[in-house]
Amino acid sequence: MGNCAPLLYTEKFTTMQNKIPIGILGATGMVGQRYIQLLEDHPWFEVAWLAASDRSSGKTYGEAAKWRLDTPLPERIARMTVAPAEPAGAPRVIFASIDAAIAREMEPKFAEAGCAVLSNSSAFRMAPNVPLVIPEVNAEHLHLIEEQPSRKASGGYMVTNPNCSTIGLVMALKPLAERFGLEQIFVSTMQAVSGAGYPGVASMDILDNVVPYIGGEEEKMEAETLKLLGKLDGHSVAPLAAGITAHCNRVPVVDGHTECVSIKLSRKATAEEILAAWAEYKPLAGMNLPFAPVQPVQFAAQPDRPQPRLDRNREKGMAVTVGRLRKCSLLDWKFVLLSHNTVRGAAGATILNAELLASLGKLETAAETAARA
Ligand SMILES: NC(=O)c1ccc[n+]([C@@H]2O[C@H](COP(=O)([O-])OP(=O)(O)OC[C@H]3O[C@@H](n4cnc5c(N)ncnc54)[C@H](OP(=O)(O)O)[C@@H]3O)[C@@H](O)[C@H]2O)c1
Repeated sequence: MGNCAPLLYTEKFTTMQNKIPIGILGATGMVGQRYIQLLEDHPWFEVAWLAASDRSSGKTYGEAAKWRLDTPLPERIARMTVAPAEPAGAPRVIFASIDAAIAREMEPKFAEAGCAVLSNSSAFRMAPNVPLVIPEVNAEHLHLIEEQPSRKASGGYMVTNPNCSTIGLVMALKPLAERFGLEQIFVSTMQAVSGAGYPGVASMDILDNVVPYIGGEEEKMEAETLKLLGKLDGHSVAPLAAGITAHCNRVPVVDGHTECVSIKLSRKATAEEILAAWAEYKPLAGMNLPFAPVQPVQFAAQPDRPQPRLDRNREKGMAVTVGRLRKCSLLDWKFVLLSHNTVRGAAGATILNAELLASLGKLETAAETAARA
């Protein structure tokens, strides 16, 4: 074990009864704020440590963060002091939401120090020994944790969740890939401004406008989708052998990414079969993970849905809404999907990954679990 505080020895822990302490790296940002909002009253986890840049370190969270969410900043969190972004004094479990360039340097240091690092950044998503996981889609890829040198040395490891636009797409595609096989995917996105962090795109650039460019996003969507839908093959993942092309656009919506999708399937399917595949897709049923949506992919039958304002908060923002299923005259089928980018596409995705890891006994050792009970 390196510098990350073992679960049982922090003073804070004794005041938390039996919840698992969570540290948030990048706590003042858009995703960091969502973690704080979503973890308030979480039955298993409690925020114990907050870190951000040198600009924020040493201030109270209330002073350091520009709180931008529509629920009040919890008093307890507002009073907490923002720590330096270093493993010393951090709890064992870290939810990280920092820029990829910084994450590339910083996240391995936390893993080497014995932390379980659950990351939102793109820095290690495509690394062969780092799992890129959506619990409903590819939980078995978590095995890659055991391939990481830090796991053997200190117990620490890294797990990533996908890009915010990839998550909704893959959740809608997985039930279809499983039943009918997937050969080609065309996707064009309309992505919310909160996806660019805070302050994000300047208002003069996005109001009354559409920006047809999000740096690196199309490449990420294409590569991550095939890794997520790929097969665990010994020490790495063999990506799905399908064709994919993505067009990514920024639109003046606050939260919620909308995507227009066309697909070619390996075997013919009727609309009823596709709707049944989505409706019956409940791979986490019975696991009792607090953040798992009951119906992960929800079909909206109205001809003008899904819409960000009306559909992004289904199942507290954790469900993906699909609609407008119809024949595609170039490929086989086309539809529209919507997912909440900072909940399902970021903070909620990390929390669900953490719940899955906890349920598999990979978030803490058996001795730690027993001692906490
Ligand atoms: N927004 C989304 O929908 C979304 C979705 C999926 C993934 N992501 C990814 O999640 C990450 C964070 O995104 P965001 O939207 O939350 O960004 P953001 O609003 O810009 O927040 C960035 C956070 O990183 C902190 N930070 C900056 N430099 C740092 C340093 N040197 N050391 C430690 N912390 C530092 C900032 O702290 P200060 O306040 O002190 O500067 C802030 O807390 C990015 O990698 C992004 O690509 C975002």
